[in-house]
Amino acid sequence: MYHSKITGLGYYVPDHVVTNDDLSKIIDTNDEWIQERTGIQERRHIIPGQDTTTSMGVKAATIAIERSGVAKEDIDFVVFATLSPDYYFPGPGVLVQRDLGLRTVGALDVRNQCSGFVYALSVADQYIKTGMYKNVLVIGSEVQSTGLDMTTRGRGVSVIFGDGAGAAVLSREEDVTKGILSTHLHSEGLHAEELIVKAPGMGGRWVTDILEDKNPDDESYFPYMNGQFVFKHAVVRFAEVINEGLEANNLKVDDIDMLIPHQANLRISQFIQKKFGLKDEQVHNNVMKFGNTTAASIPIALTEAWEQGKIKSGDTVVLAAFGSGFTWASAIIKW
Ligand code: UT7
Repeated sequence: MYHSKITGLGYYVPDHVVTNDDLSKIIDTNDEWIQERTGIQERRHIIPGQDTTTSMGVKAATIAIERSGVAKEDIDFVVFATLSPDYYFPGPGVLVQRDLGLRTVGALDVRNQCSGFVYALSVADQYIKTGMYKNVLVIGSEVQSTGLDMTTRGRGVSVIFGDGAGAAVLSREEDVTKGILSTHLHSEGLHAEELIVKAPGMGGRWVTDILEDKNPDDESYFPYMNGQFVFKHAVVRFAEVINEGLEANNLKVDDIDMLIPHQANLRISQFIQKKFGLKDEQVHNNVMKFGNTTAASIPIALTEAWEQGKIKSGDTVVLAAFGSGFTWASAIIKW
């Protein structure tokens, strides 16, 4: 049995910065409300035609591969997490295989929204542990901006989300005291409809139904979130799944060197920080400048923390996520 370790990290965000004031020009919102409730000051939106979920993922992956020192020819598998694929099908994994010029390796798409990257990391980790693959490329990328309701009707959701991508190369580690120590995955489909984009769906309304209806009040193809309900569950599940990871490895809260929480809302991160008694330098947040980039938020934040020298060899790093599904997950990593 092997372990897997992160050998390369990269992220990419579009250049186009959208501030809270920019949003307040098109919808009835304001900087004060957004900052007070979420901590978000600005986010990035793609310029349509310039970037897609796949192209951003490829840019982040290119950096991660270069930093890993792993040759492109030696990437054995791709796992791509997103809720915003370029096409309904096929998923972006195969587009990455094509656009990066990888061998005809397997490419798997993960649909677990905010927990997507941790789920993807967990999948990659299992393949490496068993010895099936040596190097796996894991990507989280999202274009949220083109699918949001940018009217006052959608303000409770649209001000929160942003676009971006992050990637990691996972490679075989012979020393089983290092690398990914464990991952912990959960779901509770009972609350699937509390954070959802309902349409188009084969089981409900397809594109033709939406076009036929021509209903201006139809919100089914925009994200819906029961914000307070999601918030209440998030704070409980984050804490649970972090504790689960610590206990599985006989670690204590004091052993955490760096916590990278999914960047949903600064208030959630602060609640968790306080609950665990962590210092500011033990938690990395960037939701203030990128908003919630769903599956991309953890790899972007992880890359940024690493680039800033906040993660050193031997550190215990904890990743934790919660989101639509509901799904929640954690990963405990010995750097
Ligand atoms: O990443 C996946 C996981 N997601 C999360 O974890 C998100 C969890 N939820 C949240 O972060 C918060 O619930 C939100 C930030 C989404 C919303 O904050 P809230 O404190 O729960 O606000 P609310 O939805 O209860 O709305 C409060 C008021 C409402 O007005 P009334 O009914 O009190 O008059 C809204 O209409 O704020 C109003 N409102 C806004 N006002 C200005 C909602 N959105 C906006 C806005 N600007 N953008």
